[in-house]
Amino acid sequence: MCGIVGYTGTQQATPILLDGLNRLEYRGYDSSGIAIVNDKEIEIMKIKGRLRELERITEGVSPIGTTGIGHTRWATHGGPSNENAHPHYSRDKSFAVVHNGIIENYLEMRDFLSERGFSFRSETDTEIVAMLLEYYYEGDVLDAIIKMRNKIKGSYALGIVHRGESDAIYALRKDSPLVIGLGEGENFIASDIPAALPYTRKFIIPDENEIALITPDNVTIYNRNKEQIQKPVTISDLSVADAEKDGFPHFMLKEIHEQSGAIRKTVHDRITPDGIRLDRIKLDGSKIRKIFVVACGSAYHAGVVGKYFIEKYARLEVETDLASEFRYRDPIVGPDCLTIIISQSGETADSLAALREAKRRGSRVLAIVNVVDSSIAREADDVLYTRAGLEIAVATTKGYTTQVAALCLLGLKLARDRETITQELYDELLYELKQTPETLARFIDDVSNVAQHLAGKYYTASDAYFIGRGYDWAAALEGALKLKEISYIHAEAYAAGELKHGTISLIEKNSLVIGIATEPTLLEKTLSNIKEVRSRGAAVIGITDAPDSIGAECDDLIVLPSGNSAFSSLFTAAALQLFAYYIAAARGGDIDKPRNLAKSVTVE
Ligand code: F6R
Repeated sequence: MCGIVGYTGTQQATPILLDGLNRLEYRGYDSSGIAIVNDKEIEIMKIKGRLRELERITEGVSPIGTTGIGHTRWATHGGPSNENAHPHYSRDKSFAVVHNGIIENYLEMRDFLSERGFSFRSETDTEIVAMLLEYYYEGDVLDAIIKMRNKIKGSYALGIVHRGESDAIYALRKDSPLVIGLGEGENFIASDIPAALPYTRKFIIPDENEIALITPDNVTIYNRNKEQIQKPVTISDLSVADAEKDGFPHFMLKEIHEQSGAIRKTVHDRITPDGIRLDRIKLDGSKIRKIFVVACGSAYHAGVVGKYFIEKYARLEVETDLASEFRYRDPIVGPDCLTIIISQSGETADSLAALREAKRRGSRVLAIVNVVDSSIAREADDVLYTRAGLEIAVATTKGYTTQVAALCLLGLKLARDRETITQELYDELLYELKQTPETLARFIDDVSNVAQHLAGKYYTASDAYFIGRGYDWAAALEGALKLKEISYIHAEAYAAGELKHGTISLIEKNSLVIGIATEPTLLEKTLSNIKEVRSRGAAVIGITDAPDSIGAECDDLIVLPSGNSAFSSLFTAAALQLFAYYIAAARGGDIDKPRNLAKSVTVE
């Protein structure tokens, strides 16, 4: 979703803002702009399209000033256009504003302002923020911000500059991410830490209802009563290199190859000679009646693997829910439940709302999150960090597989605590999980050529059907999502047993079917489904650790190392990520930033 940057210091602001916006590109956007404030005026330059357009129009004529705010916009209210691009001026151009989020009562506010003589230059919800600031301004910007904030409803991260204050940025947030970077004689605001990483690793994360006043030498945070408060400074362990491609053509490919290291970090030091240690997580498996696993997109697919795993080994009922459904469906969740919220970014609006709903109903909430100190991590009762590191490609890869690994770890911990598996099986599974990163690294190296070869063969397909049962169905869901989001090929996943209930009517000569079969007890069943589609002319790619059983019925095969099926879904995921990646590459898509998508979905 939208990206915000801000700089105040001694250097010219424009190049720093453009650099920061480039580092936030992965969040997804369709227009961009900057506002530079100097003693006399605020100058805005903005344009629809990629950042190179903004670089083009600012080259040689960029506004002079050492304080400014910048923005990449992902359209919500009003299509992508120069007028709707941020920043937005107030009526008399005394304020300029950048915004990430949605002002839900903006129509009401438009009427309120129109009745008071204001007119608008854009179709956006954001413009009302700038206008309200002008309307309420009586000599003190903080007071105007507080009055504006009391008037608006919705989610926002806001960066504000005011004419005449050539060394000040104001910032505030609610349900949208925003960090403040602390430099030497210069300070920053940004939607995400990577935007400011070349300049600092020290950050303050403002909470809701706080307002930050940022000048080159100071960051002052005010609480809701306009009292100054002290905030802790966080030192990020990310480096600039984490945000670079390191010789890979795309971040997605780099991140696919980083998976084994990421999973190692997720599991290794949590598996000790005495068993699983999840520090600071309060889990009493004996008191939990039911688990809800709630998430969106790929994180939800990881949750489906978790459901099968936890139910199998910990014998606890697990319900998986899409966060956008959970939050509105009156779920029967309460103090006897554990709600697990899974999120790579920790900022997904629906997942955050689901977390709050679960807590409101008395459930303890455990977050499985990658981004440290993100909103979901901060609001959950307990956090199990996935330690995947920075993920930049919009399509998640290591974010997803580390979620699966974390869920397996959690499932085994619950199983042991509840004594639902033998010590022997527990040790065996832990040993296998611990070996997984190494085997996965070798597998990724080996399977890359196979995936590339198959992509060359199938990249012109118009549809693809992914089928499997149990863990393999969960893997199919993720495989189909990966393929469609980056290659734009229509892809669907079906529980293999469901095919006959309608979908098989779509199968015809040369339909592409990816049949996943790793569960020993379900192999025969999935094999029957593969035979059914093949006899109707489909081309089948089989993914299995039992090539002797299903190989004869497949046109092509991806062979996985043998092992527990839950862990096999990590290998299936990697193979399907590579397959999707090479298909997208063959079709010439914008792999790291697929159309219409955003990395962090901070609006519902
Ligand atoms: C797909 C993808 C998305 C995310 C989803 C949830 O490749 O990345 O489906 O999984 O938007 O995001 P997080 O995990 O950040 O809550």
